[in-house]
Formats: sequence, C-alpha cells, structure tokens
Amino acid sequence: MLSRIFLRLGASCGLVGMALGVYMAASHDHVLAPVHAHVNLIGWVGMFLAGLFYAQRPDAAGGKLARAHLAFTVAGLLILAPGLAGVLLGYPFGELMAALGSILTIAAMALFVVVVFRSKPAPHSRRITDRPTMDRAEAGIPCFQSGRRQQVTGDGLAAHSCLTRWSSKTAASQPVSPAD
Ligand code: HEM
Ligand code: HEM
Repeated sequence: MLSRIFLRLGASCGLVGMALGVYMAASHDHVLAPVHAHVNLIGWVGMFLAGLFYAQRPDAAGGKLARAHLAFTVAGLLILAPGLAGVLLGYPFGELMAALGSILTIAAMALFVVVVFRSKPAPHSRRITDRPTMDRAEAGIPCFQSGRRQQVTGDGLAAHSCLTRWSSKTAASQPVSPAD
C-alpha cells in the first residue's frame, strides 16, 4: 500500500514537473526552473524510487518510520515547492516556507536512511533466475510464457522448461509479488 502511494505520487509529480517544464520552454520564462527541478527530482525521481524500494522490501513498508517517511516527504514537497516559487518570484512568504519545506524534506530523507538500513530482503525476493524450473510437459500444465529454454522430447512433444513463476498452477501456492 505504501509503495503504491509513493509510486502514484511520484508519477503524478512527474506529470506536474514536466508540465511546468513545457510551460517554461514555451514561455521562454525559466525563472521557476528550480521549482521544476525539485518537483521532478524530489517528487518524480525520489518518490518513485522510494515506491520501488518499498515494493521490493515489504517488511520495511509496514512500519511507523516508513509512514512517517511518506508523510514528511509529501508535506516537505508541498511546502518546499511553493516556498521556492515564492522566493524566486519575490513573495515575502517564500523564505519561511522554503525553510520549513527543506527541514521536512531532509527529515524525510533521514527517516528513509534509517528504514533502508533496517530493512532486510524479503524471503521471496530471489531473482527470477533463482526460481526452480519445472518441465511443462511433466507437470501437464500449459505454459503461456515459455520459450526461455525449449527442447523436443523423445515422443516429439515440445517440452518447455518453464519458470514456476509463470505457471498458472503454481502461482497460487508460490506468491511472487510482494504485497506492497
Ligand atoms: C517535458 C519534460 C521537460 C521539459 C519540457 C523540461 C524543460 C526544462 C526547462 C525549459 C528548463 C530550464 C532550463 C534553463 O533555464 O537553463 C529545465 C531545467 C531543468 N530540468 Fe527540466 N524539463 C523536463 C523534464 C525534466 C525532468 C523529467 C527532470 C528530472 C527528472 C528535469 C530536470 C531539470 C533540472 C534539474 C533543471 C535545472 C537545470 C539547471 O538549472 O541547470 N526536467 N527543464
Ligand atoms: C531539502 C531538500 C532540498 C533543498 C532545500 C534544496 C535546495 C536547493 C537550492 C536552494 C538550490 C539553488 C536554486 C537556485 O539556484 O535558484 C538547489 C538547486 C538544485 N537542486 Fe536542490 N534542494 C533540495 C533537494 C534536492 C534533491 C533531493 C535533488 C536531486 C535529487 C536536488 C537537485 C538540485 C538541482 C539539480 C539543482 C540545480 C537546479 C537549478 O539550479 O535550477 N535538490 N536546490
């Protein structure tokens, strides 16, 4: 769940950040370039990376620190971006907001550092190539994603060495995608 929120927010920030980039390019007014840069880098790149991390490490996604990381990241960017814009456009509220947003953002990063250091690889996060293979013909089940290794058996049947991951029969008993 946490991972999904980070991924969605990250992608949305990418859209907002790029829209600002297109606006700047079209208007030839680059004064808000730092806002564009930080929405893209803290939002799109940073949040999306965090989402991928939490998807890969579900143990880390469940804790309070991870939820605080999300809250601080979102609050930080929501305050930092308009604060930076305020500074660049000469509004008096800019400095204070930028300072507050900066503190929240760096606090979020500090929380994330702790989360990353504490996390352990998920027990089922082996690489796909580490998964046991099975013979499709032997198992008597169709393999729709075969073709990694193919051979012809004595009886003329094409037997696929098929990763269990892709087998409809074993998918239920072997959850492979971490619950985010
Ligand atoms: C539709 C996509 C994008 C457009 C049209 C766009 C456009 C621009 C424009 C016009 C500038 C100002 C350049 C200047 O003043 O010299 C800029 C700066 C910047 N953009 Fe983008 N951008 C896009 C996507 C991105 C993305 C995805 C990222 C990061 C992930 C990014 C990162 C930056 C950074 C860091 C700067 C500041 C560079 C500097 O000050 O040297 N941009 N962009
Ligand atoms: C607490 C968080 C952050 C604060 C307070 C902060 C602040 C700043 C400031 C004040 C500038 C100079 C802007 C200017 O020249 O007008 C800057 C530039 C820049 N920062 Fe950050 N930053 C933060 C996080 C990040 C992160 C996480 C990244 C990248 C992942 C990043 C990438 C950049 C880049 C590429 C520039 C040059 C862009 C430009 O000049 O438009 N910053 N930052």
